[in-house]
Amino acid sequence: MRTIHLLNGPNLNRLGTREPSIYGGETLADVVEDCRKLAENEGFALIARQSNVEGELVDFVHRAVDEKAVGVVINAGAYTHTSIALYDALRLLDVPVVETHLSNVHRRESFRHHSAIAAAATGIVMGFGALSYRLAILGVCELVRSKS
Ligand code: DQA
Repeated sequence: MRTIHLLNGPNLNRLGTREPSIYGGETLADVVEDCRKLAENEGFALIARQSNVEGELVDFVHRAVDEKAVGVVINAGAYTHTSIALYDALRLLDVPVVETHLSNVHRRESFRHHSAIAAAATGIVMGFGALSYRLAILGVCELVRSKS
């Protein structure tokens, strides 16, 4: 089955208790489950991976390439703002990539305004809380369908 990879970076395993006024009350497991149901409804499988380690996120992107993911949704957390390694890895993909954030990073501290990975993304969804992920999954499904 055509598979979308959902990748999450540092501290996102703490969703639910981490600054809920910014990130909401849903856990990562809740978010992943919702995304899985949504993807399956659209006719896609979902593989979800999370790591707090930059190099592991790079490996997850490599696995998305090797496992022939049809699209990638990534919330790289704070590595969004710093990781050239992740940017380089994402450039290996020739499928839709959606950068996603729960919060609107442009309303926050200036160090969050720059994304090191944005230029490797097809699109960006942010500021909708957990709904950002669902919109990103739907966007990838639509992009994949319009390509095939
Ligand atoms: C985040 C925004 C980042 O700036 C932050 O470091 C995160 C979460 C978001 O989803 O809003 O860890 O990516």
